[in-house]
Formats: sequence, C-alpha cells, structure tokens
Amino acid sequence: MRNTQTWQEALVVATRDLTPTVREFDIRPAEGTPAPWDAGAHMQVQLLVNSQVQTRCYSLVGLPDGVSYRIAVKRMDDGRGGSRAMWQLAVGDRLQVSEPQNHFQLDLSAPHYLLVAGGIGITPLVMMAQQLRAHALKTGATLRMLYGVRTQEELAFLPLLREALGDALQTFVSERGEVMDLAGEIAALPAGAQLYTCGPVAMLEALRKAWAQAGRPAANLRFETFGSSGRFAAQAFRVLVPRQHIDIMVPAGSTLLDALESAGVETLSDCRRGECGLCAMDVLALEGEADHRDVFLSEHEKQQCSRICACVSRVVGSVTLDSAYRAD
Ligand code: FES
Repeated sequence: MRNTQTWQEALVVATRDLTPTVREFDIRPAEGTPAPWDAGAHMQVQLLVNSQVQTRCYSLVGLPDGVSYRIAVKRMDDGRGGSRAMWQLAVGDRLQVSEPQNHFQLDLSAPHYLLVAGGIGITPLVMMAQQLRAHALKTGATLRMLYGVRTQEELAFLPLLREALGDALQTFVSERGEVMDLAGEIAALPAGAQLYTCGPVAMLEALRKAWAQAGRPAANLRFETFGSSGRFAAQAFRVLVPRQHIDIMVPAGSTLLDALESAGVETLSDCRRGECGLCAMDVLALEGEADHRDVFLSEHEKQQCSRICACVSRVVGSVTLDSAYRAD
C-alpha cells in the first residue's frame, strides 16, 4: 500500500550550514506560496539516490514565514544516500516536494510540556518550542526542553531556542559526560504533563520505558523517529521469501521494503518511519543479526526477532521472511 501523494515543483532558494553536519535549506514552491503548517509537520522530498527517484521525509523547521519551506538535513555518510543527495543540492536547483503533512501534532491542552530532542531530532521540536512559548505566555502552561548531542558543535538552532525558551532549555553534550536523567525528569512532571520527543531509536526506547515505569499515560508521550539510526552502518544483506520464490540482495542504499517491492513482493506499509507496524513481516530464519530501527515492536519482540519492520530495519547477514500477502 503506497500513499498517494501530490507533488509540486520547488526551488532551493538558500542553504546555511548550521553545524559541520547539519545544513538548512529554504525551499520555495515554483508557483504560489507554501501551504501553511503546524508544529510537528513534515514534508516529503523526491531525490535521486543511486540513479533512482526516492522519497525522504524532513520535518519543517520553525514558524511558517509564508515564503519558503525550511528543513534541516544531517549528512549521514553511512546512510542510505538521501542526505548526501540533499547536500548536493545548490541554490537554484529544482526538486519535487509534497505539501506539509503532520503525524506529530501538538495538543495544547496540557498544563506542562517536556520536549526531548536527540541530535537532528531537534527539527520538529523547534516550532513546538516557539509555539508553546507563545501558548505559555497566554495560558500559564509551563515548558522545558532537553536537547542532547554528542559534541558541542552539533548543537543546532541554539540562538533561536534560547530566544524561545531562555532557562527552560537545557543542553547535554555526551562527550562532556552530560547525560539526561530521564527518570528524574519524568518523576518531576506534574500530572497531565505531555512529553514530545524526537531522536535516535535508543533514546526513544529509554524514554518509553521510563515513562511506562513512572505509570504515566501512554497517550501523553508523543514521539517521532527518523528511522535511520541503527546499531550497525547500513550494508547490503540477503533476503529470501520462499513463499514468493524471492532471493535478493538489499543494497546498502535501499530499505528492505523498497527492495521487496522492486522485486515484486506484495507488501503493506503506511508510515515508512518504523512507527505504525503495518510493514512488519514474519522472520522465518536469521543468519547474522537483525538491526531493529523501529519503535513499533516491543523490546521482547525485537529480542525474539520473530518479526521485522521492513520499512526501516535491516539485517547484517541474511534473513528469510514471510510476507503478509496471500494469493487468492
Ligand atoms: S510502514 Fe509503518 S512501521 Fe513500517
């Protein structure tokens, strides 16, 4: 199942390097003005990766200005190639973009908000911080943001965040030994608080665990992944689907789901970000190690490795799968 998508032509009108590995792009529709968006929204972009047109999602950064879409892309040298393709774009280049979509909406009914960003996961939270700051001034709601990176130079958007949040922003640089006390932060939250987070899968898993252990309502923890952070660098692996006589290699630059679809395997998918679980396939055999990059399967399911989310997860070695598809 593929999402039907309307594409429009757009132009790169400005780029800025925010950190050595994060580049911001202003992208303007070739005709008309950008559609408005809410905090948490993202945009899809079509890119030429390994001679194939592929789609990537990027969060829209900051409040809409009515002129351009703004996204920020971290260059992942061992990724699937989308970020490298984005970094090759120059001012004046044309590309196809979707209208903004939002699966990470902000609910303005809470008395307190905790925003937790890991690395490039800061991007959807920038506008949340700006919007919540204005909301807090009107309603008295309170707000705190934790923003973790590996090195000081990876901290993007600091002036903007400091302006929006002041002392409510706390940064953590792991190479300095600064670590978020997730359990302590959650324990300090008032009843009804909501937590919004985006970052690496390991951080989201730790937050989900701490949230559940604290007895907080699952609905008040809202997250988005960027589905690219695994335990291993992306590398080619073999996949077999005996039911459909498939024996193929998944290239380093392709997802398992894309490779199966290209090979003619009927698959199911929706979010393509490791969140909804629709693409999960049964694992019949595994030689090597699975690199689960989703936030849908439970820790137990990941350890058992009886299922794998084909849209983001990978394998080092080879895997034999069964698809949900059944011929009539
Ligand atoms: S399509 Fe949603 S988890 Fe894979």
